[in-house]
Amino acid sequence: MAATGFAILAYLIGSISFAIITSKLFKLPDPRSFGSKNPGATNMLRTGNKTAAALTLLGDAAKGWLAVFIAQSFAASYQLNDEAIATVILATILGHMWPVFFNFYGGKGVATALGILIAVNPPLGLSCLGVWLVVLKVSKISSLSALSAAICAPIFTYIAIGNKPQLYAIVAVSCLLIYRHKRNIKDLLKGSESKVSKT
Ligand code: G3P
Repeated sequence: MAATGFAILAYLIGSISFAIITSKLFKLPDPRSFGSKNPGATNMLRTGNKTAAALTLLGDAAKGWLAVFIAQSFAASYQLNDEAIATVILATILGHMWPVFFNFYGGKGVATALGILIAVNPPLGLSCLGVWLVVLKVSKISSLSALSAAICAPIFTYIAIGNKPQLYAIVAVSCLLIYRHKRNIKDLLKGSESKVSKT
């Protein structure tokens, strides 16, 4: 019962879209209406407002971290086992991708997944962030960086925490993240994927 409550809470936290909130705060166009139409930090950067993009990145990462951190913190008190934490991980990313507060129109999950990974195991999260940064530095393509980190995440998770239910949740997070990048993957294969800060 408690496990269901924490999963619902995680879904609701995941459903808070910082791209949409930030666009309203900064009086910028709705990220669902321009560029890639993705409510995420990369598309917010296309407005030219780096602060709005940074706040989106930080907010989406923080909510991923918070949702999992809350469940992990109360695990002992509410007898949440690893399966329950794995469900919270999934609920968080599902909230971000299909948010109840925004007509189920969500983002691709990159920053939120990063926050989740940091909550599960900080070195794991930072290793994936490292992959993302290195690929971004070399390629200047945000989606390629995200896809590279998504492919590495399950391997790094296995190294960091071993064969636990959280590993399977993170495999699912990576699969969902890759699925949400299907348009980007097509454009990468065609060689027409846009670089950071260009539409
Ligand atoms: O974080 C999302 C990024 O990987 C791709 O974003 O707007 O270029 O589709 P976008």
